[in-house]
Amino acid sequence: MDKISKILIATLFALSFSFSDDQSIKDQFISDLLEKMTLEEKIGQMTQVDRQFLNDISDISKYKLGSLLSGGGSAPDVNTPVSWAEMYDAYQQEALKTPLAIPLMYGIDAVHGHNNVVGATIFPHNIGLGATGDPQLVEAVSKATALEVAATGIDWTFAPCITVPRDIRWGRTYEGFSSDPELVTILGTAAVKGFQSVKLDNPEGILACAKHYVGDGGTEFGTGIDGLVDRGDVKLSEVEFREIHLRAYKKVIEAGVATIMASYNSFNGEKIHGSKYLLTDLLKNELNFKGFVISDWAAIDEIPGDYKSDIITAINAGIDMVMVSGGNEPYPKFLKLFKEAVNEGAIPMSRIDDAVRRILLVKKNYGLFDRPFADKSLLVHVGSDEHRELARDAVRKSLVLLKNTNQLLPLKKAGLKITVAGKGADNLGMQLGGWSISWQGDMGYTTPGTTILEAVKATVTDSNLVQYSVNGSDATGDVAIVVVGEEPYAEMKGDRDELSLNQSDLDVISTIQAKGIPVIVVLISGRPMLITDQLPQWDALLAAWLPGTEGQGIADVLFGDYSPTGKLSFAWPRSMDQLPFTDENDHLFEIGYGLHY
Ligand code: BGC
Ligand code: BGC
Repeated sequence: MDKISKILIATLFALSFSFSDDQSIKDQFISDLLEKMTLEEKIGQMTQVDRQFLNDISDISKYKLGSLLSGGGSAPDVNTPVSWAEMYDAYQQEALKTPLAIPLMYGIDAVHGHNNVVGATIFPHNIGLGATGDPQLVEAVSKATALEVAATGIDWTFAPCITVPRDIRWGRTYEGFSSDPELVTILGTAAVKGFQSVKLDNPEGILACAKHYVGDGGTEFGTGIDGLVDRGDVKLSEVEFREIHLRAYKKVIEAGVATIMASYNSFNGEKIHGSKYLLTDLLKNELNFKGFVISDWAAIDEIPGDYKSDIITAINAGIDMVMVSGGNEPYPKFLKLFKEAVNEGAIPMSRIDDAVRRILLVKKNYGLFDRPFADKSLLVHVGSDEHRELARDAVRKSLVLLKNTNQLLPLKKAGLKITVAGKGADNLGMQLGGWSISWQGDMGYTTPGTTILEAVKATVTDSNLVQYSVNGSDATGDVAIVVVGEEPYAEMKGDRDELSLNQSDLDVISTIQAKGIPVIVVLISGRPMLITDQLPQWDALLAAWLPGTEGQGIADVLFGDYSPTGKLSFAWPRSMDQLPFTDENDHLFEIGYGLHY
């Protein structure tokens, strides 16, 4: 062995030694803490409440709550980045009043940027990132998101969603990168790295949460809420289940994901939240997951039986922290029943200690005990030019060009008279989709950003040549850009049994075509839509997914500043009977399809 490699090996050895040393100091810290904790304190650590349901801020210390969340749209009265940071600090101050001063861990759905915060950068939803196929980009986007989240004090995002949606009638399809488990694995792992960064204890990083474990995208149509898809049953052999839905979990665990969220769905008739096999035997023992498992929003309530038995089943199955939310079943009731169950011996103390140890270790590894408050000097990064530039780049790379007759695209910037039409043309909220400022999202100007119309005007040489006509009735000129598609939705409300475009969208297109103006359709949607009958009449089609605040990325592609590189990460069905996806081909477009200039 030469000298250099000897030194190298010695250094590596020393490094790994000091790491394990450091870890054993942390373990000791947790053991000491655990020894001092009462049952109430332990149960409190295992409880997460949505801030909007707190009866009073003093309940944080009274009940020794270990965690709070903001569900979709659960924002401070004045929704600005600084008021989020102040709100966080006030809650944290309250938690630190408890005898053991254990800081609380605050979670939020930052699923495409810090999307509940007015003024934050909002990136494309995962379906768009899936079309980029670019793990470096996904890592950078997640890193930027982490920085914006950390600036408001918040510790933890309920992301990445590493679902593998197989049926695009599901309203959460866009939360997934792809129907291909391999692409989901690659991009999901990149996202975890971006959120948590190399070193977990880092003021600019946050904790990630891979969700929803497991099979959320594989439920059978008809078995979900309202006879649709969401929260339904996955009917698969265990071999197929592991192959498709478990694959990404192995890799995100290897990448060090701190937490994992259980899923509302069932697997062959059994609720995941009550499955000891899936939560403990498989996830913690077989896959060696050392972080903690959080339940989904009031999801334990859906386990058969009364609320107390739900608590017993879920905790014994391996749920470590319960997202009580507090709306349906108020948290004082949860805490009371939980304590009763432990005292009656229905939940062993060893299970409680294991759960609390896992939670405290995540808090310790993240540095929460040393840095419990928001670092407000980071607030300059929220919605910064740099992050918006990154989001614009993500938008450009997410667009998939599906049709381009006679090289209609790219458009010239000078000399063309352009009509911009359609309900999505000047509608930021529609670009954002669900999980944007509110839970389900809203149409209209909900946060600062650039609409497609604004972007087109900013790109052409003479903006006077750009005309805006929502319904196309007074369209004139050389070419029309028509922006149509889906209005915002999120879980449950986005399930559909039919995926055609609205008649009003089709009318805008045909009104303009009737005038002999060539039409470029820009489709804003959370999934492929049924366009088989209409596509032959369109001159060009650009799938834009749910691009977020930076509409300029769309103009970059329309006017050729960027030649499209996006590729479908889901097949595009010809008809509804091609759903759910199987190995069959003969779709309108196959996965991987996308044109260039
Ligand atoms: C969703 C989760 C989300 C949680 C908190 C649930 O209804 O399924 O994805 O993280 O709410 O908002
Ligand atoms: C919350 C969401 C949550 C949902 C579940 C909503 O009120 O904002 O975060 O997922 O309820 O029902």
